[in-house]
Amino acid sequence: MKNILVTGGAGFIGSNYINTVLSQRDDYFIVNLDKLTYAGNLENLKPVENKKNYVFVKGDICNRELVEYIFERYKIKYVINFAAESHVDRSILGSAIFYQTNVIGTNVLLETARQYQVEKFLQVSTDEVYGSLGATGLFTESTPISPNSPYSSSKAGADMMVQAFYHTYGMPVVTTRCSNNYGPLQFPEKLIPLMIINALNNKKLPVYGDGMNVRDWIYVIDHNIAIDKVFNEGRTGEVYNIGASNEKPNIEIVKLVLSILGKGEDLIEYVKDRPGHDRRYAIDSTKIQSELGWKPKFSFDEAIKQTVEWYLSNKEWWGRIISGEYQKYYSDQYSGRIKG
Ligand code: NAD
Ligand code: TYD
Repeated sequence: MKNILVTGGAGFIGSNYINTVLSQRDDYFIVNLDKLTYAGNLENLKPVENKKNYVFVKGDICNRELVEYIFERYKIKYVINFAAESHVDRSILGSAIFYQTNVIGTNVLLETARQYQVEKFLQVSTDEVYGSLGATGLFTESTPISPNSPYSSSKAGADMMVQAFYHTYGMPVVTTRCSNNYGPLQFPEKLIPLMIINALNNKKLPVYGDGMNVRDWIYVIDHNIAIDKVFNEGRTGEVYNIGASNEKPNIEIVKLVLSILGKGEDLIEYVKDRPGHDRRYAIDSTKIQSELGWKPKFSFDEAIKQTVEWYLSNKEWWGRIISGEYQKYYSDQYSGRIKG
């Protein structure tokens, strides 16, 4: 049995990870530590909540006493750190919690993992730590770290700390850096669910700037299969980029969502740009493909349709979210931007 501490497992990617791996493996015992911030939702974990090899603990990764208790109580030997503040726009509205959770929280996990001599510590990171690309080129694992937003700089800080713990203490760490995810259970603040939900509610679709910023989209399950591969087979001290070679300008994504829903493009509204908006992200995932034999399984055209279908079939899930605290965030973020 592998006793694994998964942090942030009630969020979008972490819950998809737990649901996926526990449907396939019974040699994992997973303790999910999640603070249940605005982005954490225990409904996401319905498929596993009664499993014997799954435990949920509500709490903060910054709480050393609690983290030590979990290591002791559940004999933790592995850590997969998904927990983070994850939204760039929120990091622009207020950055402190990003450095608290993403940097200090990772430090608490690393120090405790060192104390309990874990066998592997996987840091879930992002391609955003590399900064922004021009019209050509791809991020490789040797692209210099050059983050531009409070969010990406906090993730970069954590990545460097993880590397330092490897070099200084020989800790068995490994880092994944993935591109933009989409799929079921993604919090409505992110581009794709925001556009689906606004379109369904006949609200304006706020496209930042000229809509030509490029993101490299990967289906969340492909990301999680890659994480699991790196967790089991990745080389200690290494970084693995994860991407599906699927670059799209934002406006193309927004128009595609509208066409899948049969809605008109008159809902689109170009709005004031995000400050410091990274122009283009694109991942070279040759390393994980050639070393570990991973490759994406899902086609974008199919998986984006399935994602839209999921939001159509799960209006209660997002209806509850958008009627709560989210309204204040939405107003802070968009009321000065959207006219229509
Ligand atoms: P999310 O915002 O949906 O979920 C984050 C989860 O972490 C939530 O359940 C939240 O409650 C929890 N959390 C936040 N602060 C915590 C704390 N202090 N202690 C314990 N739990 C806490 O994020 P996501 O999109 O699922 O992203 C997960 C990870 O993947 C993050 O580390 C993110 O940087 C990384 N990542 C995300 C993407 C993407 O496209 N979403 C791409 C690459 C990497
Ligand atoms: P987002 O989903 O926030 O991910 P990230 O900023 O981490 O890449 O945004 C994806 C892209 O979509 C990004 O270029 C910003 C853009 N965007 C909009 O144009 N309008 C929006 O309302 C949002 C949330 C994002």
